Amino acid sequence: MSHFKGILLAGGKGTRLYPVTQVASKQLQPIYNKPMIYYPLTTLLVAGVREVLIISSPEDIGRFESLLGDGRRWGISLQYAVQPEPKGIAQALQIGREFIGNDSVFLMLGDNLIYGRLDFLRAAMASNGDGATVFAYHVHNPGEYGVVEFGPDGKARSLEEKPKIPKSNWAVPGLYLYGPGAAAEADRVTPSARGELEITDLNRRFLDRGHLTVMPMGRGIAWLDTGTPESLLEASNFVHTLETRQGLFVGSPEEAAFHMGFLDQVGLAACVAATPDGPYRAYLQRILDGASRDQAMGLRG
Ligand code: G1P
Repeated sequence: MSHFKGILLAGGKGTRLYPVTQVASKQLQPIYNKPMIYYPLTTLLVAGVREVLIISSPEDIGRFESLLGDGRRWGISLQYAVQPEPKGIAQALQIGREFIGNDSVFLMLGDNLIYGRLDFLRAAMASNGDGATVFAYHVHNPGEYGVVEFGPDGKARSLEEKPKIPKSNWAVPGLYLYGPGAAAEADRVTPSARGELEITDLNRRFLDRGHLTVMPMGRGIAWLDTGTPESLLEASNFVHTLETRQGLFVGSPEEAAFHMGFLDQVGLAACVAATPDGPYRAYLQRILDGASRDQAMGLRG
């Protein structure tokens, strides 16, 4: 399996959330008890990604940096880059060209929340090669997304961005996997009518060459996006319901880093010590106590 880096794109103007987004971007707003960006970041960590480039607007990039830092406290590396104007999702690959280098990359949108067994991410990483992999998720409102149509052989036949008459109910979530050539491929995309490098146009180039893998996400996975007041509330309620029922947090980078082995117990204890008193600290303390107990019982290494 090749080495995967991650790019988190936290762009856009968030106009549908105005006035909430007047002084801080959409991806800094809370989903229940955590900033939105925590959720996709945690997804990348769980996929095994340790090096992430965060891309945002000139106004917001400093806020992301104050929030997340250089990642060292979580045993990861976080870097930052600016997208001067919202010129499309595919532009993130060009901005990240040097960061990507000769590695493969996950490109994830900072407003997408994916919950559930993420084994499919590992399967996708294994199948990626030098092409591209996208996912497909059944929704009732496909016209608001990139839409993939499958042929009778189960292979992807077409990809369209926000079609007026969608050819299927399969939306493409904002999580894409590319081999090292992705930035060069993005250079060949021509801007759309609204002047953006559309991610769907980039992915269609891979599809036309037979180099696109499309993996349906099973029904046990929840994919939520959070661009409107309604979807923001729904996502918050979803996280609240799960956390209250299970007593386990969704979207905690510290917990993910610890479970992935990026952080040891000493590192997690330092995170606890640096967290102000409150429910988040109490949760991290519980994870740490649980780990110490497991270790005492010989359950962990
Ligand atoms: C973007 C993409 C679209 C994708 C969606 C996922 O749309 O253009 O293909 O399905 O993200 O969230 P946007 O959210 O920018 O409207």
